Amino acid sequence: MENKNAIEVKSVRRCFGSLTAVEDLSFEVDKGEIFGLLGPNGAGKTTTINLMLGLLAPQQGKVLVLGYDVATQTRQVYHRVGYVPQDTNLYQDLSAEENLWHHAALYCQDLKVAGERMQELLNFTSLWQRRKDPVRNFSGGMKRRLALARALLHDPDIIFFDEPTLGVDVQGRFALWEHIQLQREAGKTFVISTNNMTEADTLCDRLLIIDHGRAVALNTPENLKADMRYDVVSIRTSPPVTEPQSFLSSFPVQNISRPQPDELRFEMQGAETRVASLIQAVSRDYQLSSILIARPSLDDVFLFHTGRALRE
Ligand SMILES: Nc1ncnc2c1ncn2[C@@H]1O[C@H](COP(=O)(O)OP(=O)(O)OP(=O)(O)O)[C@@H](O)[C@H]1O
Ligand SMILES: [Mg+2]
Repeated sequence: MENKNAIEVKSVRRCFGSLTAVEDLSFEVDKGEIFGLLGPNGAGKTTTINLMLGLLAPQQGKVLVLGYDVATQTRQVYHRVGYVPQDTNLYQDLSAEENLWHHAALYCQDLKVAGERMQELLNFTSLWQRRKDPVRNFSGGMKRRLALARALLHDPDIIFFDEPTLGVDVQGRFALWEHIQLQREAGKTFVISTNNMTEADTLCDRLLIIDHGRAVALNTPENLKADMRYDVVSIRTSPPVTEPQSFLSSFPVQNISRPQPDELRFEMQGAETRVASLIQAVSRDYQLSSILIARPSLDDVFLFHTGRALRE
């Protein structure tokens, strides 16, 4: 049985005791896309990945992976998915190569093919020269790359990558994004979780924003930004505006902040049509040093959908 979608999540719920980690969650992942689960800490991203992998059973609803119900047809799915968990679970005292051989023994039918693929993947992730070193000597980025190589070793169709670049430096981040993109071009489907906006924006084809275990938005990063009904305005004045709330009260603004002593940043509906009267109002009492109007970033989209309250 084959399916046009890589994954279908249907009205899934998962609780831990009295805590509801995932509630009435439904979405589909297309074959060949990089699908991002984006949400604050504790939103339910890892729980959702575990539900898709069949590592956790839903208490309601079901998950189909490549058309198979992961709860009852685990065998059919098992070899066709790869997983890089949030906490890279490599054997620290084994070398990179030994970690991969261990995985091959568990997941690969043909060890000769696995050996060839291992060489290919160690080269692909720039770890060939370090293949004999124990993993405990690896940097965070190298461990993530090795974990990706391991997840790809048995040539799965779908790879779940929980927080691909958490704690990885800029160079390592770019390398991992490139590896994921190249594998996608070779036909793989990726489901990643992240709370890094650049990663979500540049890497993912579509994003599901989750908050408190529920889906709050699903679209391409471009459409999520385009759907925002306000612009972001920044003004710098001399002297600084003393009472921003009352000063801007005649404009439809919200979320006023002061990133610099002389700068006010706020969201304003229809900024283009109001910019002239805003400049006029500011210039009556202050010297306007600069005014910037921008479309919302993915950060703004994220805060709009998930709020500003701290989590956990
Ligand atoms: N095995 C478990 N037992 C009890 N509670 C759990 C368990 N796993 C997750 N939770 C709780 O479920 C909620 C969702 O957790 P989850 O790990 O899925 O979030 P997350 O979005 O991956 O967060 P983070 O960004 O911190 O990784 C949290 O409140 C968490 O404490
Ligand atoms: Mg997580």
